Amino acid sequence: MNKLVSLILLNILFSLPAVAQRSEFLLEKNWKFAKGDIANAAEPKFDDSKWETVAVPHDWAIFGPFDRSHDLQNVAVTQNFEKKASVKTGRTGGLPYAGIGWYRTKFDVPVGKQATLVFDGAMSEARVYVNGKEACFWPFGYNSFHCDVTELLNEDGRNNVLSVRLENKPQSSRWYPGAGLYRNVHVVITDRIHVPVWGTQLTTPHVSSEFASIRLRTEIANAGENNIRIVTEIVSPDGKVVATKDNTRKMNHNQPFEQNFLIETPVLWSPETPYLYKASSRIYVGGKQMDEYITRFGIRSIEIVADKGFFLNGRHRKFQGVCNHHDLGPLGAAVNVAALRRQLTLLKDMGCDAIRTSHNMPAPELVELCDEMGFMMMIEPFDEWDIAKCKNGYHRYFNEWAERDMVNMLRHYRNNASVVMWSIGNEVPTQCSPEGYKVASFLQDICHREDPTRPVTCGMDQVSCVLENGFAAMIDVPGLNYRAHRYVESYNTLPQNIILGSETASTVSSRGVYKFPVEKRAGALYGDHQCSGYDVECCSWSNVPDMDFALADDYNWTIGQFVWTGFDYLGEPSPYDTDAWPSHSSVFGIIDLASLPKDRYYLYRSVWNKKANTLHVLPHWTWPGREGENTPVFVYTNYPVAELFVNGKSYGRQRKLTAQESEALQEKDPLALQRRYRLMWMNVPYEPGELKVVAYDNCDKPVEEKVVHTAGRPHHLELVADRTELAADGKDLAYITVRVVDKDGNLCPSDNRLISFSVKGAGRYRAGANGDATSLDLFHLSKMHAFSGQLTAIIQSSEQSGKIVFEAKAKGLQTGKIVLSAGM
Ligand code: GAL
Repeated sequence: MNKLVSLILLNILFSLPAVAQRSEFLLEKNWKFAKGDIANAAEPKFDDSKWETVAVPHDWAIFGPFDRSHDLQNVAVTQNFEKKASVKTGRTGGLPYAGIGWYRTKFDVPVGKQATLVFDGAMSEARVYVNGKEACFWPFGYNSFHCDVTELLNEDGRNNVLSVRLENKPQSSRWYPGAGLYRNVHVVITDRIHVPVWGTQLTTPHVSSEFASIRLRTEIANAGENNIRIVTEIVSPDGKVVATKDNTRKMNHNQPFEQNFLIETPVLWSPETPYLYKASSRIYVGGKQMDEYITRFGIRSIEIVADKGFFLNGRHRKFQGVCNHHDLGPLGAAVNVAALRRQLTLLKDMGCDAIRTSHNMPAPELVELCDEMGFMMMIEPFDEWDIAKCKNGYHRYFNEWAERDMVNMLRHYRNNASVVMWSIGNEVPTQCSPEGYKVASFLQDICHREDPTRPVTCGMDQVSCVLENGFAAMIDVPGLNYRAHRYVESYNTLPQNIILGSETASTVSSRGVYKFPVEKRAGALYGDHQCSGYDVECCSWSNVPDMDFALADDYNWTIGQFVWTGFDYLGEPSPYDTDAWPSHSSVFGIIDLASLPKDRYYLYRSVWNKKANTLHVLPHWTWPGREGENTPVFVYTNYPVAELFVNGKSYGRQRKLTAQESEALQEKDPLALQRRYRLMWMNVPYEPGELKVVAYDNCDKPVEEKVVHTAGRPHHLELVADRTELAADGKDLAYITVRVVDKDGNLCPSDNRLISFSVKGAGRYRAGANGDATSLDLFHLSKMHAFSGQLTAIIQSSEQSGKIVFEAKAKGLQTGKIVLSAGM
């Protein structure tokens, strides 16, 4: 067969009717990657054969090594009220995120089709080339962007060379940003007349349990003067078609094509009932189908009423939310659905119902999971506007790019049921400039223009400025970051008569570490660079959780909170950020970097999770050398009363105080407020043995008990997997908690020995973490020190079905072994 014939045959094959009007695939495997400013790397003929082969999502910096020099800075962190510059280390995780990286791959497009590349996020300053020609540039590393590359494709549609140059400047972030193509890259293939990326807008103007109205607006690219016919079916969560519209018209002045529907007795979306509908649209021109587009949505109403609060589907509720950065701990910034699902599963059980994507646009996978699992989202684009927080931060791009960044964020997520609020920024220094309100108004107006259905907030920390200069008065929902003591004043001053805790707490604690004496402290520093697990420590600007619980309980006009943070993250090791290497990850998390809940998790759970009982005791009870010393015991529980026993001896009952009782105690007891939410025995001499707590209900009936034993000698490794059946898709993950225990299975809570792992069969070792913010063990190597007796090993499935055998070994201990299975 000569070349010409085979080319013709290929073209015929490629243009067979079997090619759907619209198709989409991910560019995941077989990318070539290299670091450095490589000349001619965009040229199609460039020889990349010696480059590393990687899969995307990929984070080039997460493999380390950790080094103090990676983010050594001499700066004053102004938002922490620092006036003088000082040496800072670990702010971005001590990881090599700065520099230039190149990625190259190839893709095919059937002849005659349109091709659009969609990047869910590329860190950062992405320059995209197709067949050697620049296709697009997008500076902000967190945002999704797309470019139509049809004109740049090879004539036969094959082997199009995609090259992406990314550059992270040093001092461009206040936390670990990740590096590279850390989110997915999609190729979207369509006919010429098609629904463009994010081309529908679906709103629900009326929502009630009797009926809901639905308005779908569909954009059509290249419609020209054609008559466009759109047939849309609304499909209910149980798969039934509940409404259909079949309309034909010309596209008037490029305005979207509008269709309206009425649904009887809709099932409403809420965190507790995350029902999702689909609008499935087929687009025809002259009888020929040109496109098919699915818009997933939920039916729900949101309302904020002055003095009364926030209402979802007409029902009052307060946000029980957390802020999270985007990194996935030991996986770095590389997005992974199983890792996100694990995070949300833990948060759900805590009673959390909302997520703030601080301080940037999320991965689309997170938003989709929040739709499906039931979390309300506040999506936030920026940590900087036009005034710098970091020398090389987003302020360099703000003036030219802010509107484009906002538009992409808003169009991308305006159909997602989970999204209930937009935030326009976090603690931007612009809040204090006299003209700052104009910038805020510019951004808020873009939100209202692109999405008239959701309110807008802004996380403000400079309360004096924003109350005086009109900045806070013009935001739909004034959001205060911390400054709990100024809520009442802000409520009294501002016209909205509503206050959101857009960022709260910033309590600091290290899992399994307890400091004595137990007292409330701000900015406490210890030689081991850890913070107390008694949950009584914070930073100079922040507070412990009880204060935020009380604000929610005591004032109707507070609409809830977003705690800083759900999970520990890489970077920002406050209070150990001033020349305190090797501290390089946060201690703010309710859950640590290894995805292991700290004690604080149970405090939030005891208040937030109304469906399950919580009875949690701290500290651990293995304190050789502390015999006879005072070792306070705290209990986090939703039960009103509990009694404490040490080796059978009662230390009496404690009852949670009412607001009035706690108020009356303020002068005498620094932990008076804590007594509303925690049961505390402040005078308990330590003696080894058994710590027992018996909880009573309101009728004084003993209902549950918890026992903690003093651990004996470390004996074996106990393994607990969050799941034992994985999908054999090469991406799924199991999180295995590895615990150093005595012969009876009691955790040895101060054992920090080195543990090594092996994985055999249909999976591989992906990463591990121990939650110790000072640990320099590399996440991807299959050995790691335990921290407070535990660590997490993450196993990733391969694309083969079969058994996965995981073993953990450590000197002097019996080996732990667990068998997982991966299937199709
Ligand atoms: C806030 C800020 C967060 C984080 C936090 C730590 O002021 O918005 O990004 O830095 O402090 O407490």
